[in-house]
This record gives sequence, C-alpha cells and structure tokens, in this order.
Amino acid sequence: MRQLEADNISVAFAGLKALSEARLSVTPGHVTGLIGPNGAGKTTLVNVLTGFQAPTEGAVKLDGESLVGLAPHQVRRRGVARTFQGGRLFRELPVIDNLEVTGVGLGLSRAAAVAEAQAMLDWVGIAPLADRIAGTLPYTDERRVAIGRALMGRPGYILLDEPAAGMSAPEAAELAALIRRIATELNCGVLLIEHNVGLVLETCDHIVVLDSGAVIEDGPPEQIRASETVRHAYMGTAADSTLPVLEVMQ
Ligand SMILES: Nc1ncnc2c1ncn2[C@@H]1O[C@H](COP(=O)(O)OP(=O)(O)O)[C@@H](O)[C@H]1O
Ligand SMILES: [Mg+2]
Repeated sequence: MRQLEADNISVAFAGLKALSEARLSVTPGHVTGLIGPNGAGKTTLVNVLTGFQAPTEGAVKLDGESLVGLAPHQVRRRGVARTFQGGRLFRELPVIDNLEVTGVGLGLSRAAAVAEAQAMLDWVGIAPLADRIAGTLPYTDERRVAIGRALMGRPGYILLDEPAAGMSAPEAAELAALIRRIATELNCGVLLIEHNVGLVLETCDHIVVLDSGAVIEDGPPEQIRASETVRHAYMGTAADSTLPVLEVMQ
C-alpha cells in the first residue's frame, strides 16, 4: 500500500521527550490533519518525516521502505515535500525564481524548471505574482508561493506546517479549498498541521491528535469532534463544552 508512515517515532532533546512512540500515516489523495496544543511535537514530527530531525527511536517509511538516515534533499527527491512555519522563501528573488530554483535543485533543466514553475503558479492561482519579489508579498500570498514551491516536481506527499496561521476566515477557507485540490487533483497525500480545529475538521479525511509527544486520538473528524480525550488535552478540564468553544481556546 502506498503511504508515508511514521512508525513508533520517539525523539528526545536532552531529557525532554518531544515525541513518544508517535504513529501516523498519510495516503495519496487524502488529507490527514495533525493537531495538538503548542509544544505537542507537531513540527518535530514533520521534521522527522522530512529528514530534518533524526528520530531517537522508530522509523519513517515511504511505501514500506525506510527513509531514516536520508538527508532532507534526498527525502525531497523521493517525493516528500514540506512547507515551514514562517515561509522560508528566497525573499530577495522573484516568485517564479523561487519555484525555478527548486525545480533545478530537483534535477530539472533550467527550461523545464521554468515551464513547470509557470504551470504550477497557474495551478495554484498566483500566476499574476510571478515577477513580484517574494519578500514584498503579503503573507497570505507568501504561503501560496511556499505551497507552489513545495509542489514542484509533483511530490507524492506534502506536509504543511500551519499554512493558515494568522489568516482571516475567508482567507483560510480559500486555502482549505486549495489543500483539498492538492489531494484530489494531484493525488498527493497531504499532512496538514493547523491550529484552527474547525478548519481541520472541515478539511481533513483523518485526524491525528498529539499531546505532550504522544498520539492521544486518531480517527475521522466525527471521532475527534466527539472525543473527551481531545477536549481534555485542549482545555485541561472535563468542561461540558461544545467545539466552537474549543476553537476559541486556540
Ligand atoms: N531543536 C530542539 N531542541 C530542544 N527542544 C526542542 C527542539 N525542537 C523542539 N523542541 C521542544 O520539543 C517540544 C515539541 O516542539 P514542537 O515540535 O515545535 O511542537 P509544536 O510544533 O507542536 O508546537 C517542545 O517542548 C519544544 O520546546
Ligand atoms: Mg510547530
């Protein structure tokens, strides 16, 4: 079965257990959500899945084959792409060059990289921004450029670390629609880290909840919505609350 899998991942930072036997899988054509309070270990898990952080224990598997020990650029070449909290674009370069450089880094010729960059900007819906300097864009556009760049080379998987942070509700809804299209139109497996639980419940096929480095719930949105365990993790109490309250707590 095709999947990107975190198999019992533990990570310790000088005594602090950032992840404890965490498991999740991402499958082509589906959006998996990863939620949990600040410091739960979400970014650390993405770092492990993409080769930026070595696990203390456990394995990352792509279609059953271990990725542990590969450098980030090697993981990327195998089709596992990511975005970062805070963008990390080449700020001084035009938007199109941000995508082109990535294409060349993936082994495309310059001409092929330019052609794919143009096609990708079009597909994401930001073709008019091609010649703008990346560092001058509003962050909503910057996030879409980062996603376009991550889609260069048509990765099988894309991991998005809080792409909607700071967005208004309409901006986040537009982004959610783009994320669904990545799964359905490109048959890409998407992992979505997001603080807005409502957005995750609406966008994801499957949701994994991390708390203090451990997976405390894993299932379809209805299961997460109904989970007392998740409520406890977010609110620190068994309060009789509805989900909208849970969102406000974010
Ligand atoms: N490089 C690091 N060195 C030491 N501690 C780290 C490092 N990266 C993350 N941590 C710690 O690991 C825990 C999980 O962090 P993180 O994965 O960033 O959480 P999240 O993305 O869910 O907010 C936090 O306690 C954080 O302070
Ligand atoms: Mg994080």
